This record gives sequence, C-alpha cells and structure tokens, in this order.
Amino acid sequence: MKCSKWGGTAVIKMRQHRRRLCANHFVEWFVSMTQRTIEKHGMFGHADRVLVAVSGGKDSLALWDVLLRLGYQVEGMYISLGIDEDLGYSDTSLAMCRRFVSAHHPEAVLHIVDVEKEYGQPIPTLARTKRRGRGKPCSVCGLVKRHVMNRLARDGGFAAIATGHNLDDEVAVLMQNTLHWQTGYLARQAPVLAEREGLARKVKPFVRIYEREAAAYTLIRGIDYIYDECPYAKGSTTNFYKDLLNQLELRSSGAKQQFYLQFLRARDSGSMSFAAEQGIELHPCRQCSQPTTAGDLCAFCRLWE
Ligand code: AMP
Ligand code: FES
Ligand code: ZN
Repeated sequence: MKCSKWGGTAVIKMRQHRRRLCANHFVEWFVSMTQRTIEKHGMFGHADRVLVAVSGGKDSLALWDVLLRLGYQVEGMYISLGIDEDLGYSDTSLAMCRRFVSAHHPEAVLHIVDVEKEYGQPIPTLARTKRRGRGKPCSVCGLVKRHVMNRLARDGGFAAIATGHNLDDEVAVLMQNTLHWQTGYLARQAPVLAEREGLARKVKPFVRIYEREAAAYTLIRGIDYIYDECPYAKGSTTNFYKDLLNQLELRSSGAKQQFYLQFLRARDSGSMSFAAEQGIELHPCRQCSQPTTAGDLCAFCRLWE
C-alpha cells in the first residue's frame, strides 16, 4: 500500500477521505485537520488559555499532544474518580497521564482532582449510597466530571475546556438522539458550547477525527495510553451504537462522517430547527455558586448532602 502523497509505504488507509498515508504524512494530516476544525468553529486562539480534560485514554492524550505541538496555551486536567480500586482503572489512567507528561512534554502542567480526597467518597461508593443509575455509576460520574471541569475552568480563568470526543463518539450520540427524537439534546449537540452564565465554554477539536485515526496517531507518536475502557462502560448503549455504525461504515465508507456533518449543516442552515431550552433560567447554587436550573442547591451539591 503506497502513500497517496509520495509513493512511500502507507500505514493507514482512510477510505472516507480517499487517502492512504505514510506515518509522516498521516501525522501532518492529523495535526492540520485538528487545526482546521479549531479555526472553522472558532474554538479558541493562541492568546487563550485552554484546559484539556485528559482521561488517560488515546483521544484526550492525542488531543493534548496536538494542541501543545500547535503552540496553544494548554494545561491538562485529570479527575480521579476512584473507579475499581481492585483493577486500578483510575490509578492506571492517572499513571498514563503522568507518563505522557514525563515522556513527551515535561514542561506541561497537569492539574489533578481526586474526588474522594476532595469530596469524601469515590464515585462507585457515592452512586451506591445514593442508589442512582441501577447499579451503574455512569450518570453520577458524568455529573461529577461536568461540575469539577467547570470549577477548574472558572477558578483558573481558562477560556475553554477541550475534551477528546471524536467523530465516533459524536455520531453514536447523534444516532441515539435521533432514534429517540430527543430534540432538546439535538439542539445542543455541537462542536462548541458557548460560555453561558457561569458555564465555561466547551469545545471538541476532534469531531472530524475517527477513533481509529486517534489510535493510529498515538501509536505513531509512541504515546502510551490506557487500553481498557472504564469497567462500567462494558455493554453500554453507546458502545452498541458504535458497533452498528461501524458495520454501516464497512458497507458504505464515509457514512459516519456524512451522518454527522450533514446534521451540522442542516441545523446550521436553519433547514432543521429544534426548540432549544429557551426560557430555562440558570441561577447560582447557594452552596457552590455554579449555575443550576434546579432549586437553590445544584444536582452536584445535593449528591453530597
Ligand atoms: P468519555 O466520556 O469517557 O468518552 O470521555 C470523553 C472525554 O471526557 C475524554 O476524551 C476526556 O476529554 C474527558 N474525560 C473523561 N474522563 C475524564 C477524567 N477522568 N478526567 C478528565 N477528563 C476526562
Ligand atoms: Fe465514569 Fe465509567 S468513566 S462511570
Ligand atoms: Zn452546588
């Protein structure tokens, strides 16, 4: 298999872009695709300080690496959730983030928030105590991560929070939302969520990157990451939709990309409009001052009561 650019040995075939690239040209393509996405959606500029949420997985570490290589002012944030002490999922993930810094960017800043140390309980225990999520801590975990990310971004004066969500993640959520016609969620699903009344700006610079491309990038760059996913993600609905979409992609290359990009185009052109959550007022939580739509205490503070 030959590189489409110069005839050297290609390491990856990207059917949806009708390209096969060698290691060097692939890395060049990957970095420039991220840069174009950042510019196209006006995510942030070189003068902005950006907080990248790193989980120790391939997407977020690849993202941190690319943003540093592009010269952005970016600092990492790892939230230790205390998941599966036996298997050490959280400890291993943190070790991967630390290894990334020491091996690739010793000058980079990594902020670490340990949920148990700061708030009193690890996520699985908290979810069990609260009997939320039918034995799965995922919804509690999502709520805590959103709160902590927002807190760090606000306290640190960051212009945006960047996450490693890739095209496979986005398209799986899109399919889920479409199948259920969750119009409120569809209205909000976007590469950029603007800052709003105490909610930090959120951006996803990898929305054009397929998961296998992020994996190829980390492999070529020699970035070690945690291969296992969170033990609670096994058998999740999102993974089920990802499998379905991969089958579709095998039959029709570019299907995932088309589905996602045409959705964004249709919505942005106004040919498809969904009632956003207009009229939903946000006010500061009495305890933590983060914005909430609930009563005087936000969902996060109620969790710890
Ligand atoms: P996930 O929901 O696990 O697919 O993760 C989506 C994105 O959220 C990742 O790419 C990261 O940017 C961020 N993220 C997930 N888990 C953590 C964590 N423990 N600490 C910081 N960021 C995280
Ligand atoms: Fe939060 Fe799995 S990462 S429950
Ligand atoms: Zn609160």
